[in-house]
Amino acid sequence: MSEPFEFSDVQGLLRFGYKHHTEGAFALLRVRDRAAARAWLASAEVGTAASGPLAATVLQIAFSATGLGELGVAADVTAAFAPEFVAGLGTDANRARRLGDIGNNDPARWDWGGPGDGMMPHVLVMAYALPGHLDALTRALDVQWAGAFDLMRWLPTTDMGGVEPFGFTDGVSQPAIDWSRTLPEQDHDSLAYRNLACLGEFVLGYANEYGRFTARPLLEPVGAAAVQLPRALDSPTRADLGRNGSYLVLRTLRQDVAGFWHFLDARAGGDAGERRRIAEAMVGRTMDGQSLVPAAEAPIAGVDAAARARNGFTFDDDAAGLLCPVGAHIRRANPRNADLPAGTRGLVARAVRTLGFDAAALHADAVASVRFHRVLRRGREYGRRTEVDEAAASPDAAAEAGLHFICLCADLARQFEFVQGAWIAGTKFAGLPHEGDPLLGNRLSAPDEPGTARFTMPRAGCPSRVIEGLPTFVDVVGGAYFFLPGVRALRYLVTA
Ligand code: HEM
Repeated sequence: MSEPFEFSDVQGLLRFGYKHHTEGAFALLRVRDRAAARAWLASAEVGTAASGPLAATVLQIAFSATGLGELGVAADVTAAFAPEFVAGLGTDANRARRLGDIGNNDPARWDWGGPGDGMMPHVLVMAYALPGHLDALTRALDVQWAGAFDLMRWLPTTDMGGVEPFGFTDGVSQPAIDWSRTLPEQDHDSLAYRNLACLGEFVLGYANEYGRFTARPLLEPVGAAAVQLPRALDSPTRADLGRNGSYLVLRTLRQDVAGFWHFLDARAGGDAGERRRIAEAMVGRTMDGQSLVPAAEAPIAGVDAAARARNGFTFDDDAAGLLCPVGAHIRRANPRNADLPAGTRGLVARAVRTLGFDAAALHADAVASVRFHRVLRRGREYGRRTEVDEAAASPDAAAEAGLHFICLCADLARQFEFVQGAWIAGTKFAGLPHEGDPLLGNRLSAPDEPGTARFTMPRAGCPSRVIEGLPTFVDVVGGAYFFLPGVRALRYLVTA
């Protein structure tokens, strides 16, 4: 039996979306004076994952790898974090290509986080507030930081009432975290899709879906600061600097709302119902967040009864994508499969699939099992919301808007980078004929590839409907990888 989980050592973002805190702003800071910066960070109170009364305001604090160095963390300690975190998000051409960050999305064009002097934030401070409390908080912080940090920018957010700028309900599907560690440490074959994920998929210092621990620094427990750190569960003589922390991805994604609806309106011949149906097929949900496929008969672990109607489904009975196109955004981002594809429960069926005799299933087999590739989303919208009719009427109608996409995971390469690179940016996802994510694709193609600006909507008994000439609807304009430490680790980082 495991110890009760130490929620008070975890920053709250890992457990809560802070949905009551409808106001939010994210500060990108660079260290100006190391001693003053450490002093402010040591005195800052972060909201934890422990249950309790709602605070009017909450802070969460995370660091880039460059930031750890600027704060005086030893180079060998920083180097023991995951290599993707150490390298950074927007600093390497190979990573940029794999993630689709080329063309308009090229980090060299980013407003922040790209290559070049002064572009990389050292510290990310996320401020959340109940309505009416944010202004006073950010003003107070600006005063407290003077001298300690240079403020690169505040990333403001907008409460759009649970809807993202294109007009779709967001925040519907999230993995459930196995906080009490009831899942087996090593589950070799998980034959049915489940939404419950091992703690170590999101929180560092615990076993993940492979029964392993992901990269984070383990230290000699010497010195007053290190002694306060928890001992590593997989190496009990070492202090675990990662434990109860997570990796945080922040990407500012600018959405061309008018471009999206104007394009779809033209393709739908001005028919508002048809334009909406194509948009819903691209997302893979209705605008009000309903699933396009019926709920599964059997319950799904990690989907409670209240969420069943919207989230208790898989694509097992819609292999061809007649109800929800195979290339739809939510189907790429979470194909809801298991270790062996659907229809593989019996011994014979399993042998046929495992040995590769079932040619028709090969495309499904090509999609990796989702339990190793989940991300916990915590993004916030920014800018001004434009109504669909207004956006559809003119390509210039919509105001600047987008998503500060945020996700948490314990393995940047296997979780965020895989989902973004192989499933969302990948133009051969599930055997599709050269098309990227209909919302997020950059529409660029490799030299030997025909164009990728298309979206396929399969139909029963007749050829698929293919929407050609898809423009880009989303541009990446900033981003970085951060480490969101546990509460004790935060104290260590700024006092050791
Ligand atoms: C501007 C950019 C984006 C928009 C407008 C957008 C929109 C949406 C919408 C409307 C949903 C359905 C509602 C929900 O399940 O919460 C959704 C789900 C999802 N999105 Fe995105 N998204 C964007 C970027 C991304 C990125 C960059 C990723 C990952 C790299 C991502 C991963 C996911 C995942 C994992 C789901 C849940 C799928 C499921 O479990 O069914 N999204 N997104």
